[in-house]
Amino acid sequence: MASTRRQFLNRILGGGITAIMAYIIYPVLKFLDPPSISSGERSKAFVATTEEMSLNSAKFFRLLDRAAVLVRLPNGNYKSLSAKCTDLGCTVSFRPAGDYFHCNCHGSEFSINGRVLRGPAARPLEEYDVSVVGDKIYVSAPVKSV
Ligand code: FES
Repeated sequence: MASTRRQFLNRILGGGITAIMAYIIYPVLKFLDPPSISSGERSKAFVATTEEMSLNSAKFFRLLDRAAVLVRLPNGNYKSLSAKCTDLGCTVSFRPAGDYFHCNCHGSEFSINGRVLRGPAARPLEEYDVSVVGDKIYVSAPVKSV
């Protein structure tokens, strides 16, 4: 009877140790072998309905954990841009009165099309693809492996 109790306790203890080791080792193995991302993959997100976007308006959103913005141009077309300033990466804000984006960090300004109007930023805002399906507006961007 005593040996049966001892065997039972040994099994419980052994199972517990095994569970703890699996709890520790599994995340380490997952970290060492991250999922592969091919360079051609794209991510697509629903951003807004056409009714939400009046002329000369902007809607900020996140795409693949990146700050992005959808704008409706004065001519009625849609455009999506990265909201990350190309100088040092601050998030830009939209100034509808002047049709431009402003970065509060160092004063860069970008046109509603993402072109640099004033530095220190030297590159335009990254552009994403926009598609309108019915009354829904989608934005897609390449998935970048870091
Ligand atoms: S980070 Fe935008 S102007 Fe410097």
